[in-house]
Amino acid sequence: MKVLLVGGGGREHAIAYKLSSSPLVDELLCAPGNAGIRSVARCFPEIKATDLDGVISLALSENVDFVVVAPDDPLALGMVDRLNALNIPAFGPTAAAAQVEASKAFSKGLMKKYSIPTAAYETFTDYDAACAYLETQNMPIVIKADGLALGKGVIIAKTLEEAKQAAYDMLIGGKFKASGSTIVIEEFMVGREVTQLVFTDGEHFSLMPSSQDHKRALDNDEGLNTGGMGAFAPSPYYTDDIKQETIEKVIKPTIAALAQEGRPFKGVLYFGLMMTPAGVKVVEYNSRFGDPETQAILPLLKTDLMEIFVACANGTLDSIDIAWEDAFCTTVVLASGGYPGSYQTGYPISGIDEAQEGGAIVFHAGTKMGTGALDGAVLTSGGRVLAVSAVADTFENSIRDAYTAANCITFTDLHKRSDIGRV
Ligand code: AMP
Ligand code: GLY
Repeated sequence: MKVLLVGGGGREHAIAYKLSSSPLVDELLCAPGNAGIRSVARCFPEIKATDLDGVISLALSENVDFVVVAPDDPLALGMVDRLNALNIPAFGPTAAAAQVEASKAFSKGLMKKYSIPTAAYETFTDYDAACAYLETQNMPIVIKADGLALGKGVIIAKTLEEAKQAAYDMLIGGKFKASGSTIVIEEFMVGREVTQLVFTDGEHFSLMPSSQDHKRALDNDEGLNTGGMGAFAPSPYYTDDIKQETIEKVIKPTIAALAQEGRPFKGVLYFGLMMTPAGVKVVEYNSRFGDPETQAILPLLKTDLMEIFVACANGTLDSIDIAWEDAFCTTVVLASGGYPGSYQTGYPISGIDEAQEGGAIVFHAGTKMGTGALDGAVLTSGGRVLAVSAVADTFENSIRDAYTAANCITFTDLHKRSDIGRV
C-alpha cells in the first residue's frame, strides 16, 4: 500500500517509525513531516497539516491507497470526511465525531446525557451570567475555552477574582478568539491523572497501555502548561481494578454514546482521566493519539500498526489480536529554552546518533534540515524539538535509559525536565 501520513511532530514520527516497518506499507509519504520523518518517509514540507485542499490533491496526484490523519485540527476541519467522499480510505474520525475534542461544550453535554463520570459544570457565553454563577461556587475552579486552543485554553483559578478575569479574557477580551466565545466552568477535581488511549472502529475497541504525560514546563510540575514535556507507559498507578472501572463506566458508554448520536468514532479515542477519591472521572476527550504519550506507547506495540489502522477504518477491529511488550517506556522531551513562551530556533543539534547507540529511539518534533553553510545539519525549528524514548524491563530502568540517551544530545538553549516518571 502507498500510505500518506498527515502531521509533522514527534507523535507523527513515532507513527511513521512503526508504519515504515509494516509489511503492508510499500511506500510512506508524509505532509508536512520533519527532519526525522524524512529518514522513513517522502516528506512534503510545503503542505501543512491543516491544508485540506493541499492534502487532498497530494492524495489524488500520488494515487495513495490510505491516509492517516494524526493531528486534531485537520480532523475537526473534516479532512476524513473529504477523503471518505472521494473513496480514499482513511484512519481518523469524521468532523462530527472529532467534536469530542473540538468542543468541550459538546463533550461535557455528551457525558451528562449518558451519565459518564466527569466534573460538574455549566456552559456560558455571557460574562455577567458567568460571574453570577462563579459567585456561588467554591474555589479553586476551572475555566475552559470551548474550542481548540493548543492545550492552553484551561485556567485553574484559585480565587474568585482570577476566575472572573479568566472568564472576562475569553468572553470579552477575545483571548483564544472564537474558541473562547463559549466557556465551560467546571468543578476542580483532585487526583492523579492517567491517559487511556483506545483504538476503535466505532463499535469494537482495544486498549493501548495506559500512560501519563507531564504538562508543566519545569520540574516538580511548576511553570507554564505545555503540550507535554515527557511521558511514561504503562502507568503503575492505574491498577487493574481502576482499568476495569474505566472500561465499564467510561470507555464502553462513550463509544456507544457516539454511535447512538449518529457520530460513530473511528480512530484513536484519547481518555484523559483523573483518579479521584470518588472514582475515575473524565478530564477531557481527544480525538487522536496524544503527544508525547504516543512516543512512549508505540515503542511497546508488537502488532503491525498498519493492520490496526485498516481494521479501524473497515470496522473489523474485533478480528485482530493486538499485542504489547510486557515492558515500560519513558519519553523525555528536549525543548527550546523559553518554550511555551518565546524561544529562538535554527540551532544545530548534536548527539542524536550517540543517543540511539544503547537502543533508545530519538523522535523528531520541531526539527528541520539546514541549508547553505549548514547543509546536512539537523536544526531546531520549534518549541518541542525531540522526544527520546527508552524501553526497559522495569519502570526505573526505562527512566534511567531515557535520561542516559537524552543526556547525549546538545543544542543551544536546550531545556528538559529532570523528573519525568518521578512525579
Ligand atoms: P484539558 O485541556 O481539559 O485536559 O485540561 C488541561 C489540564 O488541566 C488537565 O490535564 C488537568 O491537569 C487540568 N484540569 C482540567 N480540568 C480540570 C478539573 N476539572 N479539575 C482539575 N484539574 C483540571
Ligand atoms: N499530551 C496531551 C495531548 O496530546 O493532548
